[in-house]
Amino acid sequence: MCGIIGYVGNRNALPILIEGLKRLEYRGYDSAGVAVLNSGKIILQKSAGRISALEHVISEFGPDKLNARAGIAHTRWATHGAPNDINAHPHASGDGSIAVVHNGIIENYSALRTYLKQKGVSFTSDTDTETIAHLIALHYKDNLEAAVRAALQDVQGTYGIVAVCAKEPGTLVAARNGSPLIIGVGRDEYVIASDAAAILEHTSQVIYMEDNEIARITADGFRTTTLDAVPVTKDVEEVEWTLDQIELGGHEYFMEKEIFEQPKVLETCLRGRLDLRDHCIHLGGIVDCARELVRAQRVVLTGCGTAWHAALVGEYLLEDLARIPAETDYASEFRYRNPIIDAGTVVIVVSQSGETSDTLAALQEAKQRGAMVLGVVNVVGSSIARETDHGIYLHVGPETGVASTKAFTGQVTVLTLLTLYLARRRHMSQRSMNNYVTALGRIPGQIDAILEQNASVRTIAERYMDQNNWLYLGRGYNYPVALEGALKLKEISYIHAEGLPAAEMKHGPIALIHEGMPVVFIATKGTQYGKIISNVEEVRSRGGHVIAVATEGDRDIAELAEHVIYVPDTLEPLQPLLTTIPLQLLAFHAAVARGCNVDKPRNLAKSVTVE
Ligand code: G6P
Repeated sequence: MCGIIGYVGNRNALPILIEGLKRLEYRGYDSAGVAVLNSGKIILQKSAGRISALEHVISEFGPDKLNARAGIAHTRWATHGAPNDINAHPHASGDGSIAVVHNGIIENYSALRTYLKQKGVSFTSDTDTETIAHLIALHYKDNLEAAVRAALQDVQGTYGIVAVCAKEPGTLVAARNGSPLIIGVGRDEYVIASDAAAILEHTSQVIYMEDNEIARITADGFRTTTLDAVPVTKDVEEVEWTLDQIELGGHEYFMEKEIFEQPKVLETCLRGRLDLRDHCIHLGGIVDCARELVRAQRVVLTGCGTAWHAALVGEYLLEDLARIPAETDYASEFRYRNPIIDAGTVVIVVSQSGETSDTLAALQEAKQRGAMVLGVVNVVGSSIARETDHGIYLHVGPETGVASTKAFTGQVTVLTLLTLYLARRRHMSQRSMNNYVTALGRIPGQIDAILEQNASVRTIAERYMDQNNWLYLGRGYNYPVALEGALKLKEISYIHAEGLPAAEMKHGPIALIHEGMPVVFIATKGTQYGKIISNVEEVRSRGGHVIAVATEGDRDIAELAEHVIYVPDTLEPLQPLLTTIPLQLLAFHAAVARGCNVDKPRNLAKSVTVE
């Protein structure tokens, strides 16, 4: 949610900042802006819309006249104030000598605004961020770092900020509290960003800023201190992602790329963990807490959006296979409903980005109440990854498409590994374990086989793309898949879709069914197959058009459904890893057919770092 980039070094800053913004555009894309330090002045340009709109504004301005060596830029997802030119970042002080970009929310901005107005400050935007620019200017004497430090004493809320000052043209000052900032360390240059994706092109050496830290960065070096000016020594770390992982690689959309790379990335996720020779599971991230986990009396899983759906699959797995009482809670609800958490409870926090504000807050709540907290996170070094006691990374590589795909299957894979590990330590026979390990090892190849049906899924999507209401129904392990399938369609195609446990349909939603309405059934062979076939009949008899995701070789269902997408057979608890794939393709093709921007759906942001 919102992307920040800053540069200081010996190269021309402007193109570096613009390229960085493009890499960050998936974080927010309603407006963008840039401020560079040129001949003792701050040149500031911003525009509503995508980065391309900003480029257009800059081209009219004549970028070749500029040769700035430092600057800051931002791509925005609006929280305070409409997404227009004026509210876009950077925001500047009245005299234009200070500019700042900001991620997060300033909670006391209204009080600060009143205070600043009393001091004679006039505001040009409706944003909370503008208050920071004016506060810094108010405190500025001859040292930007000191002014930022003083300004932040007055600020309540969350922030990742980078500020520049016309009087200190080669200096960036950054501060973090609850919103990530990473400093990329190059040769005689530094790139600071809210996300490693904007840094990778220049360096893989990074420093993660922590909450309540300030960094002063020049081309010659950097210095980090706490907000109270206590020096902090930082380690330089290596980012494990590579540049080609954040490029489209021949695909038109990141979502498409990420759907199709699932076989490969899930192999990486399983590598070194799924032992096909000895039929066991190794999870380095939980070695130190394995005993506690095995003895857990209860597990609470939490997350948001797609991660919540993966957590729900985790709940089914943990109860069914490991026989540990488990429940799933929306992270946004968890902390406000006085949850019952004790020392025997393990809280599993699921997040792709590791930065979702609600999930981070749920983690902190769980820790405060004495629970051991385990992270299932994709982004290495992210806030959630660092605040959890233990964790298992997904290792599925960067996910850029706003609609999560490979992260979902990665999260379910990790939760399956964890469950099997615990189940075996608790009671599962080696024989059962052998079956699960073998079946899990086959999943990447089976996903490949499903992806081969891409063209026929596209035909189905194109046939129903004009229908504005879809239902997704599944039972047992396929109920969370129904939720996820419906969410994917909503997110990127703007078609209204609902996911439900199939049996619940007759308690209300059946009233929606009309002639020709698409109803997606996840109806693979398993314990509830007979029951779901009855639900298929109920829909058919009311004129609904059934699109069934079924087990290969199931000819009976072809008699009942308008369309069947087959998935290979696997053990029932592993089915979500396969049944999700056709639903990702269905949503993707429906959105493309409707002319939607799949990677940047309206109103959404990849990572929601506000409450
Ligand atoms: C946003 C995204 C969703 C995502 C959710 C949780 O709402 O649009 O696609 O599932 O955040 O994100 P996380 O990074 O915590 O998994």
